[in-house]
Amino acid sequence: MALKMSFNGILVVLLLLVACAEIDSKGSFQTYNYEARELYRLNNLDKLNEINSVDFHWKGDPLRKRDYIQPKRYDPTWESLDARPLPAWYDQNKIGIFIHWGIYSVPGVASEWFWRQWQNGNNETTRFMESNFKPNTTYQEFAPQFTAEFYDPDQWAQLFKKSGARYIVLTSKHHEGYTLWPSRYSFSWNAQDVGPHRNVLGDLAKAIRNQTDLKFGLYHSLYEWFNPLWVHDTQNNLTTDEFVRFKTLPELYELVNTYEPEIVWSDGEWEAPDDYWQSKEFLAWLYNESPVRETVVTNDRWGHETLCTHGGYYTCADRYNPGL
Ligand SMILES: *[C@@H]1O[C@H](CO)[C@@H](O)[C@H](O)[C@H]1NC(C)=O
Ligand SMILES: *[C@@H]1O[C@H](CO)[C@@H](O)[C@H](O)[C@H]1NC(C)=O
Ligand SMILES: *[C@@H]1O[C@H](CO)[C@@H](O)[C@H](O)[C@H]1NC(C)=O
Ligand SMILES: *[C@@H]1O[C@H](CO)[C@@H](O)[C@H](O)[C@H]1NC(C)=O
Repeated sequence: MALKMSFNGILVVLLLLVACAEIDSKGSFQTYNYEARELYRLNNLDKLNEINSVDFHWKGDPLRKRDYIQPKRYDPTWESLDARPLPAWYDQNKIGIFIHWGIYSVPGVASEWFWRQWQNGNNETTRFMESNFKPNTTYQEFAPQFTAEFYDPDQWAQLFKKSGARYIVLTSKHHEGYTLWPSRYSFSWNAQDVGPHRNVLGDLAKAIRNQTDLKFGLYHSLYEWFNPLWVHDTQNNLTTDEFVRFKTLPELYELVNTYEPEIVWSDGEWEAPDDYWQSKEFLAWLYNESPVRETVVTNDRWGHETLCTHGGYYTCADRYNPGL
């Protein structure tokens, strides 16, 4: 189901994702600073009442089975990675909000695929550009108009909480390549340098964690339609991997280490195999070493052969209904 909300002229598309499983009404973890809290809890099992009262945002039954993944080493093979259990919180949380927000919200027609459709000669986007903009206007010229001047992350957090959703997923970067955080690897094509002039992603992460119990997840597109490094690699029939080594992977590590997302919702995988993306190696790091190794949930979009087959939970096609 998709809701379109207009935030003062800025189009925000919210897709509600439903995960189907048994409801557990108690015990949602606030996973921020999770390790410190768990360590404290395990060392103080005789003082559980006190633990419940300290500022750990711990709201469940303290004797309940731990709802994160026991430490185990995963190898960079699908056999090993696929054996990792889905962290329990995901099935318990059931309903989340998926937010698309980026430069495509400025023209606000067609979809987040605006740039690609326009370059492909799509008639709706072509007519829109011809009727409203000077000849030879570039997509990049929309970026300064992505002002986000009425963006109020605290208000968003309250709205999400009131909706009953238990997690959100924000597009950290869609196929256009523009990052909603000040990435070192997206020089001058990020929300700090052009447009809002603020860390849109980081500010939402802070608000969500400060004010709600919602899990904070991030969508991330592996490929970028027009990134010269990607174009270079595709022209070489993917026998080179400069885009992955110098863009995708550094950016993914930066994203996870800095914002500790509870969901890494990968996309833009389908034009290359998982070997090209080095997805298995990234996931082994994510599950073994990363700051969210015990709680992170992933999806199945890690290479053109992985959809509905490998990874965390299956998204298969968009709007896939697992039929549970
Ligand atoms: C766009 O072009 C397609 C054929 O290429 C046509 O079927 C469709 O009606 C056109 N849409 C508009 C809005 O003109
Ligand atoms: C648009 O670009 C084309 C090709 O570079 C050029 O010939 C044309 O003069 C440009 N038009 C305007 C209005 O700048
Ligand atoms: C957390 O939220 C409260 C109000 O809900 C606010 O007063 C406080 O400044 C916020 N703290 C941070 C770090 O954002
Ligand atoms: C890529 O593959 C195509 C078709 O197989 C071939 O014609 C082309 O020479 C290849 N290019 C490179 C750089 O290997």
